[in-house]
Amino acid sequence: MPKRRRKSKNTPTSDVGGEDSVVLRETAPLQMRYYGDPVLRKRAEPVAEITDAERQLAEQMLMTLEDTGNGIGLAATQVGVLKRLIIVDLGEEDDEAYEPLVLFNPEILSAEGEIVAEEGCLSIPDVTADVKRPEIIVVDGIDIQGEPVHIEADGLLARVLLHEIDHLNGVLFIDRISGLKRQLLSDELQKLQQAEHPS
Ligand code: NI
Repeated sequence: MPKRRRKSKNTPTSDVGGEDSVVLRETAPLQMRYYGDPVLRKRAEPVAEITDAERQLAEQMLMTLEDTGNGIGLAATQVGVLKRLIIVDLGEEDDEAYEPLVLFNPEILSAEGEIVAEEGCLSIPDVTADVKRPEIIVVDGIDIQGEPVHIEADGLLARVLLHEIDHLNGVLFIDRISGLKRQLLSDELQKLQQAEHPS
């Protein structure tokens, strides 16, 4: 807990403004959870109804993702909320601009092919590894308006969707790499587990 500065009784002070004042934003970024936090290993629950609370959570997650500067996907689990909600924001990729995607209760209907590519995770900073995943997938879910969505994806979009859906099941990308490579990462992971992360 931070120390409070004691105000001198003789100095007139204002309750408004000043360096101690807190600016409340309607939508604020959320606290990221990092490797070692047990919440990342929990299974998220389906969302029964898309209410204002769910929409606000999605907005806050989009803001949190934007704040990371380099993230392209986020699962609610990663901000400590055990609801089945993922967001994807590819920004501009291959000269195409993508709209951010908000997906509640995502479900993989089919997956085919196999492709290896490098992955990282906002909850596991500075760790990357090659991960083998299906190449083409079909995913169903519900959008921010509560409407059903049907997505056929390949390439980076498929990879991000699979990575984020894994999070909802308590699975991390490092679970999907070979034992040898994981062993090579074990020192780094242990350090992360003990690290203090910025709030
Ligand atoms: Ni991740």
